[in-house]
Amino acid sequence: MKASGEDGEAPAGGPWEECFEAAVQLALRAGQIIRKALSEEKCVSTKTSAADLVTETDHVVEALILQELQTRFPSHRFIAEEAAAAGAKCVLTPSPTWIVDPIDGTCNFVHRFPTVALEFGVIYHCTEERLYTGRRGQGAFCNGQQLRVSGETDLSKALVLTEIGPRRDPATLKLFLSNMERLLHAGAHGVRVIGSSTLALCHLAAGTADAYYQFGLHCWDLAAATVIIREAGGVVMDTSGGPLDLMSCRVVAAGTREMAVLIAQALQTINYGRDDER
Ligand code: IPD
Repeated sequence: MKASGEDGEAPAGGPWEECFEAAVQLALRAGQIIRKALSEEKCVSTKTSAADLVTETDHVVEALILQELQTRFPSHRFIAEEAAAAGAKCVLTPSPTWIVDPIDGTCNFVHRFPTVALEFGVIYHCTEERLYTGRRGQGAFCNGQQLRVSGETDLSKALVLTEIGPRRDPATLKLFLSNMERLLHAGAHGVRVIGSSTLALCHLAAGTADAYYQFGLHCWDLAAATVIIREAGGVVMDTSGGPLDLMSCRVVAAGTREMAVLIAQALQTINYGRDDER
């Protein structure tokens, strides 16, 4: 798919055009708020564990996005990270549904480590001013440049990304480290944790990493990146090797199916439950 338009943005058209444009504009507005807040004092609270952080900026940005979208698209449904943390149900229905993560990598944001993003069919890496977009059948782009995954099929030549997830109990940490060890024993060039699952998934879409896996990843961490990776030619699947289940809190993604299957086979499952059963 070729980029079109004067500034090389993703091609226009299709029934979701208005939604896509709204998402891009809101991502850019939210990015301004997040960049400003990055250098200010933060009010930080915890959610499911001491490592699962939320700030007032997460709430402000999520409220802005939901308010704007609900006004503009009153018949649409919403799943949003902080609303879910406050007890809202995460249910996928046939109705158009927006899946919103106001700041992915809140821990990085709190520490001023410059990798935070906002996602909704669109992922904005605001500190680097990189706008990632993916639209079904229309390709994936970063600042107008078409994205393409790596074609690597050999695990012994792969750079693999993952994230730790929110739990820190000994049993979970043991499984997490043992999964990393299994991939390193299989000869992977490296296994990296950068602190934002969403941005790690963007690296995969851009071909600067070969695979990603995680247990404990929520639907709002994964939804936008899934479209972008698939449009960049990659695969996103369940850690069992079966089809992706967005609500299952587990994922393997790779540039090739061969690579995804090899990683899925190497992993031991960490059970985080389901987003739609909380
Ligand atoms: C989290 C980050 C983190 C990953 C967690 C995610 P949040 O998102 O992406 O890297 O390990 O599983 O939930 O809470 O910062 O939006």
